[in-house]
Amino acid sequence: MKQQLLFNHLTISQISERKIKKHASDHSLSDTIKIIESSIKNQYESPYASLYCSFDKNLIKTVKNLVEIKKKLQPTVLIVVGIGGSSLGTKAIQEAVLGRYYNASNPPIKIYFAQTVDADKTATIIHVMRSEFIKHNAVLIAVVTKSGTTTETIANFQVLLHLLKTEYPETYHEHVVVITDEGSVLWKLSEQEKFSLLKIPKLVGGRYSVFSAVGLFPLAMIGINIEKLHEGAQKALSTCLQKNILKNPAALSALFQHIHYKNNYTISDLFLFSLDLEGVGQWYRQLMGESIGKEIDVHGKRIMAGITPTVSLGSIDLHSVAQLYLGGPHDKITTFVTVHKTKTDIILPDNEPSLLPYLSGKSFSTIMNAIVDGTKAAYLKHNRPFCSLELPEKNEYYVAQLMQMKMLEMMYLGHLMEVNPFDQPNVELYKTETHRILSK
Ligand code: PA5
Repeated sequence: MKQQLLFNHLTISQISERKIKKHASDHSLSDTIKIIESSIKNQYESPYASLYCSFDKNLIKTVKNLVEIKKKLQPTVLIVVGIGGSSLGTKAIQEAVLGRYYNASNPPIKIYFAQTVDADKTATIIHVMRSEFIKHNAVLIAVVTKSGTTTETIANFQVLLHLLKTEYPETYHEHVVVITDEGSVLWKLSEQEKFSLLKIPKLVGGRYSVFSAVGLFPLAMIGINIEKLHEGAQKALSTCLQKNILKNPAALSALFQHIHYKNNYTISDLFLFSLDLEGVGQWYRQLMGESIGKEIDVHGKRIMAGITPTVSLGSIDLHSVAQLYLGGPHDKITTFVTVHKTKTDIILPDNEPSLLPYLSGKSFSTIMNAIVDGTKAAYLKHNRPFCSLELPEKNEYYVAQLMQMKMLEMMYLGHLMEVNPFDQPNVELYKTETHRILSK
């Protein structure tokens, strides 16, 4: 199959090429592109370390070896324990590629995510584990935490580990895979307990880590083609590191957002016309929120700046928030994401009388495309700025392209806004405060 580019279809409304080029040159964006490109040669030893993941052949080998070992246990359930950057990317790819309702379609290994300390959610996971144990099925737990000390993750892990220990008093360690920074407290505990370990390179931050062991191990366990993920990420890198700004979708998207931000458009809506992409939206919210929302800029000046990421789902949200988007304040820009070819299509009968005769014989994809075009027309008429991306299909290759493109976009946006896109000092503060309160 000829692999067509995801970004062929990136179009931007209401902003001229001249303006885009001038903004890029005023902010020396091409210098940053050169720096990022050359930093990939330094592998995991630069702030842009995450971009090296898709070139790391040893990583694929290590992950696949461990998957082979763990598959011998014949697990029917995989529980990913992790929050934020340690689970959002994995969930996004699982839902986009396999479908959001994947667990209902009887796959060989079902996946569950224990993210927060919501007793009702974790109780459901405990129930799932117990049911599998009754059927003599094996359960595997992947604990993912870069720091190794995140409250929610450790709380969930302790509860689920206790269950594992009850079921497999001698061999529980075989059912645990820990993915963390080398040398973290959890790393050390895992060595003592003989849990399988995969490391997260030091400079690969949580929200940029989906193409490291963080995403690769659980995704490979449930049958996602991780080589294709890396292939897609590499393709996005080659496209999005181009010096020609007008052909570089990540740079274009960052410039589009920044130009509008400078004109007080402080909200960026990712409008996804595929329910399976909702997880990508949640992942993107973290990526933008943590990378761009900053109190201090790179010069140490207090700026309290940021673009607020929102996520909308087409066409559902047209029936809820479109009134605000089209009639409310001019403070939002939109990125429409559509899917060219859905996994299935449904055709309406054409031999029966219909309340809406124009629907007879039409396919769902035709109707959805008409809704998308109608929405764009309305945005144009109301002078609401947007850009559009089209995913040819929801497979590993294209979903990885989209996510890698968005990560580069965030690095460019960090440069344009003069903030560090890799730290999250204010999130750390909430974690310290939580530790303090719980330690009283
Ligand atoms: O992007 C980040 O660094 C954070 O959102 C983390 O992913 C999140 O807080 C979880 O941290 P950890 O992986 O250390 O458990």
